[in-house]
Amino acid sequence: MTQKLLFVCLGNICRSPSAEGIMNHLLQQEQLTHAFTCDSAGTSGYHIGADPDRRMAAAALKKGITLAGHSRRVHPEDFANFDLILAMDQSNYQDLKTLNTDPQYDPKIRMMCDFCTDHTDTDVPDPYYGGSSGFDYVIDLLLDACSGLLSQLQQ
Ligand code: 4NP
Repeated sequence: MTQKLLFVCLGNICRSPSAEGIMNHLLQQEQLTHAFTCDSAGTSGYHIGADPDRRMAAAALKKGITLAGHSRRVHPEDFANFDLILAMDQSNYQDLKTLNTDPQYDPKIRMMCDFCTDHTDTDVPDPYYGGSSGFDYVIDLLLDACSGLLSQLQQ
């Protein structure tokens, strides 16, 4: 049975497509693509249909990771359909709690940084209005969080 993971940020063009791309990259490295399915979505509808942000894609590519997909909004059915829904920051987490109308699915909603082992950050910072170092930092932080998440899910 495959475990279904949904990564969520605000716009679904920077952080969550990166988390999805990084997780798929790790799954390929570990030959675990059969065991997990990854997707990403945004809590806002600001960028529906858009490609991943060019600056974010460039930062990911420096680590050999290609970002794919087009921005979509979180759907009400996502809470039933995914096993784990990972919020990039506290604001995404609160929005997800509000969007989910069925309390049985609440435990599926988790903070991405809870799975970091090398970083003490609690949020994946929004890089959108900053410089290129912010995008590089998001990739480093998400590499840590995704590898911690994968180890926990394999246990
Ligand atoms: P993301 O970044 O939530 O990581 O995709 C953002 C993208 C767009 C905006 C904010 C954050 N925006 O305000 O348009």
